[in-house]
This record gives sequence, structure tokens and C-alpha cells, in this order.
Amino acid sequence: MIISFEGGEGVGKSTHVKILCAHLEQHGLPWLSFREPGGSPFCEGIRGLFFHKGLDTITELLLILASRRENIVKLVLPALEQGKIVIIDRFIDSTLVYQGVLGGLGIGRVRELMEKTETWIEPDLTFVLDVDPGHALKRIVPGDKFEEREPAFHQRLRQAFLDLATEARHCIIDADRPRDQVSNDILATVDRVLKL
Ligand code: TMP
Repeated sequence: MIISFEGGEGVGKSTHVKILCAHLEQHGLPWLSFREPGGSPFCEGIRGLFFHKGLDTITELLLILASRRENIVKLVLPALEQGKIVIIDRFIDSTLVYQGVLGGLGIGRVRELMEKTETWIEPDLTFVLDVDPGHALKRIVPGDKFEEREPAFHQRLRQAFLDLATEARHCIIDADRPRDQVSNDILATVDRVLKL
């Protein structure tokens, strides 16, 4: 099973990924978790390249897909084979939203490229953490290239994730609440899906 966490900047994904991993651990369930872009040392190297400012959007997309392809082949498929639950901090939906919608490449074109490069795998469950960007941006450490963009960019980002979250796998979580309430909702959903 693959579970992804998605959303705009500073919505608390990495915190909730950690809470979920600890929860699975308590239940004795094997898991693997990583972030994108990034993961293995090689893909963390790609992450460094991705964060260069002023990159062309297709170059950005190719870096993301290079990281994803390595992760799918070296991490995801072997972990699934071993019966592990794979938890990913940003995955295909971020690519559709950041490069497809905000970057202007188009969702259809980005998805087609992912399918052609065998980097398109739909997770079983996707949490879309939704937070008013005005609140979310107070939580982040400045430095990432998208985090420094103007408020309108973050509003569009939020809307693009909400517009995209229409598949049965998507679960929109109001993350503008105390952390425990948010994690209770996430863990209850996972327990239901895993029949815990
Ligand atoms: P984060 O891990 O701190 O959320 O930062 C990752 C950044 O990478 C974030 O600004 C979103 C961006 N990103 C894309 O633009 N496209 C993608 O496909 C992914 C996975 C991330």
C-alpha cells in the first residue's frame, strides 16, 4: 500500500508523516517513508539541484521525475514486494499541481510524461492537508524557492490541490486545527483502510 501526503507550503506534512510512521510501528506494521524530491542520498542530491532558483519548468519536472524514477525502482517496488506500507511526503499530485498547474505545463501533459517515463503510480490513499496559506506560511523556514512567492501564488496552490483531489483515494484534511485533531483524523482513516 502507498500513502501520500500532499498540500501547499508549511501545511505540516512532515509532522503527520512522522506521527503516522510511529502509529504503524506501534501496530507492528512494516513501513518505509521518504520525501520527494529526495529520499536516497542520490535523490537528495537531485533535491539540491531542484532548489536552484530560476530553473526552467521542464527542467524542474525532469529533475523531479529522475528522483521519482529512482525512488520507484529502488525503494517503492522492493518495499511493496516485502509487504511494507510506503509513506511518501509529496508524490504525483505535487507534480501535477506545481509543474502542471502553477508551472503552466498542463496537467494532461505532465501526466502523459509521467506515464511514458513509468513514474506514474497512483497511491492507495492520499491525504491533502488543507490550510489557509496565511496561517501555513507563518510555520515555514524561508529558503525554498516556492515559499518565497507572493500570497496569490499560495492561494492558487491551495485551490489547485483542492481541485485535483477528486479521486476516491483523496482525503482532504482540514489541517488548520490543533495538531492532535488533525492526526486523529488521519490515523482514523488509515485504521479504517487497513482494518486495524
Ligand atoms: P517540501 O518537501 O518542503 O514540501 O519541499 C518540496 C518542494 O518541492 C515544494 O516547494 C514543492 C516542490 N515540488 C514540486 O515542485 N514538484 C513535485 O513534484 C514535488 C514532489 C515537489
